[in-house]
Amino acid sequence: MARVGIADFQAWKAERRRFACLTAYDAPTARILHGAGIPLILVGDSAGNTVLGYRDTIPVTMEEMLHHVKAARRGAPEAFITADLPFLSYQASEDDALENAGLMLKEGGADAVKLEGGRPWAALVRRMISAGIPVMGHLGLTPQSASLLGGYRVQATTAESARALADDALQLEQAGIFALVLECIPQELARALTERLAVPTIGIGAGVDCDGQVLVLHDLLGFRGGEKTPRFVRRYAEVEQSIAEAAKKFAADVEQGKYPSREESFHMPAGEWQRFRPPE
Ligand code: KIV
Repeated sequence: MARVGIADFQAWKAERRRFACLTAYDAPTARILHGAGIPLILVGDSAGNTVLGYRDTIPVTMEEMLHHVKAARRGAPEAFITADLPFLSYQASEDDALENAGLMLKEGGADAVKLEGGRPWAALVRRMISAGIPVMGHLGLTPQSASLLGGYRVQATTAESARALADDALQLEQAGIFALVLECIPQELARALTERLAVPTIGIGAGVDCDGQVLVLHDLLGFRGGEKTPRFVRRYAEVEQSIAEAAKKFAADVEQGKYPSREESFHMPAGEWQRFRPPE
């Protein structure tokens, strides 16, 4: 996949060309996704629930995110990588926010950052962009505020709340975001926003009309344990089952002395073993 940039996402919006985005948290996954032609890789703070064993995204730290962003960058040097700003890395103070966003680019090697929330963050988004940090917005179900939003549920289902979200989207666009994630909102609202906004919308549980679609890779792969799968997730593989089957087969082969075979073992050159004398 050739290197893409923000101008490409804008051009695709103008051409009405849809694009895919997936999460990656490590080098091999980023390499595979880039090789598969996924133009936008998100190192999401969903790393918290998918690979770090947390219940949600709240405990995820800057240190952990940087670790994942760096790994993804090493795996896919040419990919467009957006790094999620984790909870409290941008909410406490604007100076910290700028510093943390900068670290994602400077140390992590990301191309852009993503932050959750609308109007209250517009000034911060402006400041980041003035500092040269591209920002992706995220509205609707914003997991870092799931408690406030009453849990993981569809958002903006009333005319008033839909209007508030639309106003937030416009504020973020005016602040200079290059793309906007819309999570768990009615399809009708996502369609209207996609038509209204000049920047691409990237839906997750927001219907088919967005400019792009994003999924958490572990959801798409069937790699999320017993967790209930949200309605918008389509599974394209059953990786969890494949891993369990492979592990069981390996254990059975070991227990039955079938692994390793002669071909899977190393051997001394002819004659050398005959010359070998074990210690007395
Ligand atoms: O953290 C994440 O993976 C995300 C996507 C769900 C958009 O924010």
